[in-house]
Amino acid sequence: MSETPKLTRRPEWTELEDHRSGPLLHPDLRELFAADPGRAQRYVVRVGDLRIDYSKNLVTDETLALLQELAAATDVFGLRDAMFRGEKINVTEDRAVLHTALRAPRDAVIEVDGENVVPKVHAVLDKMSEFANRVRSGEWTGHTGRRIRNVVNIGIGGSDLGPAMAYEVLRPFTERSLTFRFVSNVDGADLHEAVRDLDPAETLFVVASKTFTTIETITNATSARSWLLAGLGGDDKAVARHFVALSTNAEKVTEFGIDPDNMFEFWDWVGGRYSYDSAIGLSLMIAIGPERFREMLDGFHIVDEHFRTAPAEANAPLILGLLGIWYGNFFGAQSHAVLPYSHYLSKFTAYLQQLDMESNGKSVQRDGRPVDWQTGPVVWGTPGTNGQHAYYQLIHQGTKVIPADLIGFARPVDELSGELKAQHDLLMANLFAQGQALAFGKTADEVRAEGVAEEQVPHRTFRGNHPTTTILARELTPSVLGQLVALYEHKVFVQGAIWNIDSFDQWGVELGKVLAKRVEPALTDGADVPGLDPSTAALVAAYRELKEV
Ligand code: F6P
Repeated sequence: MSETPKLTRRPEWTELEDHRSGPLLHPDLRELFAADPGRAQRYVVRVGDLRIDYSKNLVTDETLALLQELAAATDVFGLRDAMFRGEKINVTEDRAVLHTALRAPRDAVIEVDGENVVPKVHAVLDKMSEFANRVRSGEWTGHTGRRIRNVVNIGIGGSDLGPAMAYEVLRPFTERSLTFRFVSNVDGADLHEAVRDLDPAETLFVVASKTFTTIETITNATSARSWLLAGLGGDDKAVARHFVALSTNAEKVTEFGIDPDNMFEFWDWVGGRYSYDSAIGLSLMIAIGPERFREMLDGFHIVDEHFRTAPAEANAPLILGLLGIWYGNFFGAQSHAVLPYSHYLSKFTAYLQQLDMESNGKSVQRDGRPVDWQTGPVVWGTPGTNGQHAYYQLIHQGTKVIPADLIGFARPVDELSGELKAQHDLLMANLFAQGQALAFGKTADEVRAEGVAEEQVPHRTFRGNHPTTTILARELTPSVLGQLVALYEHKVFVQGAIWNIDSFDQWGVELGKVLAKRVEPALTDGADVPGLDPSTAALVAAYRELKEV
């Protein structure tokens, strides 16, 4: 591999540094808006149903031009094209990165190792659709002939967060007569709470695991099987009617005892955190139906095509990625808040945490050299109005730079009526008010003009200039969800490309897994585990003592 020039030595990087310490040393959004009457209209990018307003960011035309030069110098679009072509850009695992193929139309041709993968994708989607329809219609029955009324997804990480988030987002589109639960934690309490009020005869377990070796998932699935068999008189044949698997690993699925006919396949070129639009979305598809699921895939595809073809200056994921680079690498921002003004998006930020932090939480470059620039941010946030009464104080008046995305919709979901529907304007008024307050603050003179005593003035002053990006759409539909997720997927891609890291591996989670396996016998049987450090050994001893009391 040829050596990539060091990022921070590139002239495009040093020009950005000079720009930051020169004209943008003390960026002031009041001044920037005053100097540029067209800013609110110009700093908007549209993709699909999304209107993305980035006018409240600490940038000028010059900043944006310099950031674009950095993107060009680091060949973000070159890597993008390689990804779309199916090249093995996941270098440490020697894998293609083709989640975009999961939402490609039937007639598309995307090759991995000379094979067009699109027909395989659609064959699995068709199989999923048929199965989802059978469960939804009651044609697929449990072992005792009763129809399935409960679906329990067992998975973790990408095999949980995506389906669980999307189920929550699309609740108004779900079949309300079915109950859906998502179990991920190896804490037995998770499965216990999920099944305690369910009838095994009416319960379908969807075991989601790309590798089918993940200890949490296999442990929970094994316990779920015991629960099922205990409830159905112990007949092993029941498993075939109550368990399906979503995996890339047919061998392990069969070993577990799930009929390979009941397995829905995907492939190693789909990363776990990029997988809920693959077979991993089966429980979601059962919930919303195949048609809505395909609408969601079409939404993803709209943004894929935009990312692939839109010119740099109008390319939404590129712009969002560059803004993140600007704050992380030139303002020292450590985190990025995603603040949805929608109850249905309550799990969206948790989903993005894996997408962003597992992808870009890296400190070596693609060729193994260390980075000496910041990489991925800490992504955090909860629905906006709740956050306003909890942590927004720190965003407004604390000492940290926290760029934030505010996400909202013009219309509440159709299901709401009367007063609940009317509450929507109040919800959105909060979004707009927060964007305004964060950007423009309140000066000491404005506070004084309200007659506030002088000693109180500093406490009631808001310095403003907290950057936000506002993402608006008409309503939260399956397509819009797909668009939002693809937008963030590609934003993360852009940043990884510029930082020159492999956004598609996750070696950082391995060590903990190995150590947990090693420590477990010490907790369970009191086994002597050689090589425990003194602190952990003392904790293990304390645990065992407490356990016995
Ligand atoms: O531990 C990290 C991870 O590998 C994630 O990347 C993945 O989404 C999750 O575990 C679950 O993996 P699997 O789907 O193979 O069970």
